Amino acid sequence: MSDPHVPDALSPATVAVAAGRPERSQGAPVNPPIVLSSTYVSQGVQQPGELLYTRMDTETWHPFEEALAALEGAEHPGVVFGSGMAAIAAVFSAVPAGGKVVLPRHAYQVSLGFADDLAARAGVEVVRVDVADTDQVVAALDGASLLLVESPTNPMLEVADLPALLAAARERGVLSAVDNTFATPLGQQPLAHGADVVVHSVTKYLAGHSDVVLGAAVARTPELTAALRAYRTLHGSIPGPFEVWLALRGLRTLALRVERSQQNAAELARRLAEHPDVVEVRHPSLPDDPGHERATRLMTGYGSILGMRPRGGAAGADAVVAAVRLWVPATSLGGVESSLERRRRFATESRTVPEDLLRLSVGVEDVEDLWRDLDRALRSAVG
Ligand SMILES: Cc1ncc(COP(=O)(O)O)c(C=O)c1O
Repeated sequence: MSDPHVPDALSPATVAVAAGRPERSQGAPVNPPIVLSSTYVSQGVQQPGELLYTRMDTETWHPFEEALAALEGAEHPGVVFGSGMAAIAAVFSAVPAGGKVVLPRHAYQVSLGFADDLAARAGVEVVRVDVADTDQVVAALDGASLLLVESPTNPMLEVADLPALLAAARERGVLSAVDNTFATPLGQQPLAHGADVVVHSVTKYLAGHSDVVLGAAVARTPELTAALRAYRTLHGSIPGPFEVWLALRGLRTLALRVERSQQNAAELARRLAEHPDVVEVRHPSLPDDPGHERATRLMTGYGSILGMRPRGGAAGADAVVAAVRLWVPATSLGGVESSLERRRRFATESRTVPEDLLRLSVGVEDVEDLWRDLDRALRSAVG
C-alpha cells in the first residue's frame, strides 16, 4: 500500500481519510449519504449489481466496505455484518458438521463459546492452542477445516508468528482467518501474511467511539467474498445504515487515535512495570514481554491494550476498578475513552486467564491524567 515506487501509493493513514468518498463532481457531497430504504424500484429479472432489497445489499454499506478493503490490502470489498460476532459466525459456517477448528486458548471468550456450541451441536472438534507456540499450532492443523487466530490475543496479548501459521494452514488446505480487532489494519495486514479472511469487531478501534456495534470480514478471493455475502443474506446478519455511516466517520481518524492511544499505552506500561503495587504488566512494547520480539518484527506499533495484575489478587483488582475516577469501568475496548475490567468476572472467560488480570483499553486522553488516576487508584486500593 505504501510502496514508494508507485507514485500514487498512499499511506494507510491517508487511505483511512480518503477511501470510500463519493465521486467528485461539482456540487457532490464530500461524505456519502445515508440511504434509508428497505427496498428498491425493480421489476423483472435482477441484473448483476442491481440493488433489490436491503437485507441483500444497500449502497450505504459500500463506502465502508471499500475503505476497509483498501486498508487491509484486499482486492475485493469487505462485507459488513451486524456485529463482530456475526462476522465470526459467518467464518465458522465454513466448518462442516464433524469438522475441526483450531483457535487460541485465549481468544475472545465469545468466539471460544461459539466454537464450543459447534462442538455440542455439530460434533465439531475444537482444539484450543497457545498461539505463541508455533509448533503446537502447526501440529494441531492436520485434518482441520479452520484456523482462527487472534494476535495479539484477547486478553492475554500473546503474539503469534502469523506468516508461519498462515503458511502452514495454506500447505494443509486449512482455511485461515485472523481476527484483526486488536492490531487494526494499521498495525498489521494479515492478508499480506497469507490469511484467507480477516475479521473485525468494528465496534472497537475502527468505529472508535463506543457508540456503534458492527462487524466486518475481508476475504482474499472473490469466491470467499461471495460466500460471506450469501451467508449474510441467508442469516439476515446485517447492520443498519446509520451504524455503517458512523463507523466510516470514526474510521477517518483511525490513524490519529491509534497513534495517540498506542503512545499512551506504551508509556503507561513502562511506568506500571515499576509500580510497587503491580505484580505483572503485559504489553508487547515492553522489552521483556514474551511477545516483544515478534511484535517488533511483524507489527507496526504494539497496540493499546494492556494486561495488569495488581497486588491483592482478584479482590485487589476489583478494588482498583472501583477506585478509578477517570478510567471507565466497562467491558469492550478501542474507544477514545480509557476503560478497564477484570476479565475473570465473567464465568465464561478462559480458566487459564489469571483471576486478577485487569484488561486496560487505553484511550486518547492526556497520559499524565491517565497515570495520576491509575496510580492513585492502585495506591488507595492495594497500596
Ligand atoms: C477480539 C474480538 N473479536 C470479536 C469481538 C466481538 O465483536 P462484537 O462485540 O462487535 O460482536 C470482540 C468483542 O469484544 C473482540 O474483543
